[in-house]
Amino acid sequence: MGIDEKIIRNLIRAAKGKLADSYAPYSKFHVAAALLASDGTIYTGINIENASYGLCNCAERTAIFSAVEKGVKDFTAICIMGAPEEEVQSIISGGAAKDYCPPCGACRQVMSEFCKEDFVVVLAKSEEDYKTYTLGELLPVSFSL
Ligand code: THU
Repeated sequence: MGIDEKIIRNLIRAAKGKLADSYAPYSKFHVAAALLASDGTIYTGINIENASYGLCNCAERTAIFSAVEKGVKDFTAICIMGAPEEEVQSIISGGAAKDYCPPCGACRQVMSEFCKEDFVVVLAKSEEDYKTYTLGELLPVSFSL
C-alpha cells in the first residue's frame, strides 16, 4: 500500500473545495469526495439530495459516476469529508470537521465494482487530521459477479 502524503493533501484540498457545493437541503449534511484516478486526474463529487429522499446520491458515487462517464475506470484512492452545514464555512477556512465521514454501505459496494482491495479510502477532518483504510478493510468478503 502506501500513498504519498502530498497526494493525500491534494485530495483533501480538492474535497474540501467542494463541500460548499453539496446540495443537501433536507439532511443539511454536506459531503464531498475527491477520487484519484491512476493517471493522476482528480474527479470530485458532492452529495445531491432530492425531495424524494430515496433518490439522494452520495458524494462518493457522484465522483465515481463522473469519472466512469468519462471512460475512466482505474482508481487509486478517494478522500471523503462530511459535516453539518453550520460547520462548512469554518472547515473551508482551515478548521477541522468534528467527525470523520466513512462511506455508506452502498458506496462501498460501488467502489468494489471498480476498485481493487488495495484502493485507499482517506477519511479527513482537515488537511492535517485524516485516517486511511483500504477498501478490503472497509468491505471484506465483497459480492461481485
Ligand atoms: N452521504 C454521502 O454523501 N456519503 C456517504 O457515504 C454517507 C451519506 C450523504 C447522503 C445524504 O445526502 C447525507 O449524506 C446524509 O445522509
